[in-house]
Amino acid sequence: MAKIVTHFPRLIILQVMRILSGKEVVQARRKKIAEKVQQLKNNKGITPGLAVVLVGEDPASQVYVRNKAKACDEVGINSFEHKLPAETSADDLKKLIIELNNNKEVHGILVQLPLPKHLNTDEILQCIDPKKDPDALTTENMGLCWKGTPRVSACTPSGVMAILDYYKIEVAGKEAVVVGRSNIVGKPMAQLLLMADATVTLCHSKTKNLRKYTSQAEIVVVAAGRPLMLGKEDFKKGAVVIDVGMHRELIDGKTKLCGDVRFDELHDWVSAATPVPGGVGPMTITMLLENTFKLASF
Ligand code: GUN
Repeated sequence: MAKIVTHFPRLIILQVMRILSGKEVVQARRKKIAEKVQQLKNNKGITPGLAVVLVGEDPASQVYVRNKAKACDEVGINSFEHKLPAETSADDLKKLIIELNNNKEVHGILVQLPLPKHLNTDEILQCIDPKKDPDALTTENMGLCWKGTPRVSACTPSGVMAILDYYKIEVAGKEAVVVGRSNIVGKPMAQLLLMADATVTLCHSKTKNLRKYTSQAEIVVVAAGRPLMLGKEDFKKGAVVIDVGMHRELIDGKTKLCGDVRFDELHDWVSAATPVPGGVGPMTITMLLENTFKLASF
């Protein structure tokens, strides 16, 4: 009797990494915002207005502020720019914020961060009327967020949630790690993931053995503010990696944009990751537009 020999080719399962493009999400969402803004104008005669306050001449902040004005214009939101010299006193800045609090055409007030060192950031931010705070940085709005009843949520973390939603990445029941505990990204990010029913660990610069946490997580959001800090060996196979970092670094003699994660190492290892640029970055302004629209509609 002939012997039957069956050869099974060795199966090599490669993890194909999905690139989570924020640009694609932005395109989808901006069209909807423009429609909603138009409806608000037609139905209630309200045109949402965003005031952006920039103190000093930080080049990156100047670019952000310019981009914010352009984005507002694209969706029909009025934008008001207030550029103040770097040496502006706390009293003068507070006076401007109070004026904007009382201005009926303004529904959102964004004080561009970082502020010059002589100004106490928290003292300034707390002058913003919480009903006009699209960054959710006032104590009232941070409290509402942690209570689970946000008026609006911080822009960058909301942008991350919008990416996860767009790419249908399940969050409920997942183990999520956030690296970084800033008021503007890390803390609200942890809170939003918690609200979406993830089990959340919040790591920071004093966390001992960071890899112990990141390498067990199914979703890792990195907002550490340290260029190229984490790579393949820090993540579990099949994890979803969201990079909030944005740095200008000299790499191979050229200035390049990079994040907190060594993106090039992740292919064939993680299941999905955001690139830098083109990942989380473009989302922040889009969520700012959405928050301004929400504040104008209340
Ligand atoms: N600077 C960089 N990102 C932000 C942001 O989301 N809000 C404010 N206010 N300043 C920033």
